[in-house]
Amino acid sequence: MISWAIARAFANIALVKYWGKREGAENLPATASISLAIDALKTVCKIERLDSGQDEIFINGAMAVGATSVRISKYLDFWRAAKLIDGHFLVTSENNFPTGAGLASSASGFAALAVALAAFSERKIAVKELSRLARVGSGSSARSITGGLSALPIGKNPSAKLMLDAESVPFGMVVMTVESAPKKIPSGQGMEMSRNSSPYYNTWLKQAQADYEAMTQAIRTMDFAKIGEIAESNALVMHTCMIAGRPPLLYWSGKTIEIIKAVWKWRSEGLQVYFTVDAGPNVILIARREDLNEVSRVAESMPGIQRIILGLPAGGSEILMRE
Ligand code: PMV
Repeated sequence: MISWAIARAFANIALVKYWGKREGAENLPATASISLAIDALKTVCKIERLDSGQDEIFINGAMAVGATSVRISKYLDFWRAAKLIDGHFLVTSENNFPTGAGLASSASGFAALAVALAAFSERKIAVKELSRLARVGSGSSARSITGGLSALPIGKNPSAKLMLDAESVPFGMVVMTVESAPKKIPSGQGMEMSRNSSPYYNTWLKQAQADYEAMTQAIRTMDFAKIGEIAESNALVMHTCMIAGRPPLLYWSGKTIEIIKAVWKWRSEGLQVYFTVDAGPNVILIARREDLNEVSRVAESMPGIQRIILGLPAGGSEILMRE
């Protein structure tokens, strides 16, 4: 029996987004998605067995409170109910990037937690099952288990599949953060708002499926311009869907729009750069590996940006240490 385990996971940024849940529990996505894991966005999670009858959860050095604490405790309950673990744990999770600000912190957070918990399980949990288990914590974290370019299909109990390992992916990302405060409406709630009230929800579902198929093909032939075009358009359709809900959900700030326009300008001037935006105001640029430094340089020339993070493709989640 081990007493502690430390796991590491990288966040991933979707090129074709998961936005919308099917009815029922366990985060069954309504759209199939494809993402890239990013080495600069990392969670390290330590789990220690406790003798007490209660879990203790610390995120970035502070005790988790409110909805975050409830969400993680419930997730541990889910593992206990499935008889994968027993007893209670001290969970210490550290992100090296802003938490809850639309930078997929839940993806790396739940993936690292799932991998660390699996170390406490009596039975061996295969990657496919681990991806499913991570998905129950946060849909996008299923893709952080496998890393690289990964796809999460729709279906009964889907798990992510590795499409292309990190070393073989010829492009990376430059994250431009414009706000780092946690968002007021978490993704799960935002998805429900879109499903319940956006007149474009069904259009989004249809377009997302078409984008998923086109992106799969573009990755197969490694057509970078196609990958960028689909990613940009997919993010814009997702945000259009949420903006059109009643009440509307607008994650963007003025800076988000400024960056989007700048990307179009840089591209018209010959720089091969595309963008995507998750459920937050920050913008993530997509560029070939050889263009990443130049893209970071032009990104840095924009006023009013908080942080520029250059990210290369990263691998899947793993245990770093255990005892
Ligand atoms: O897994 P969640 O609940 O954090 O939702 C992720 C939603 C997006 O980041 C907007 C899209 C995605 O596929 O990662």
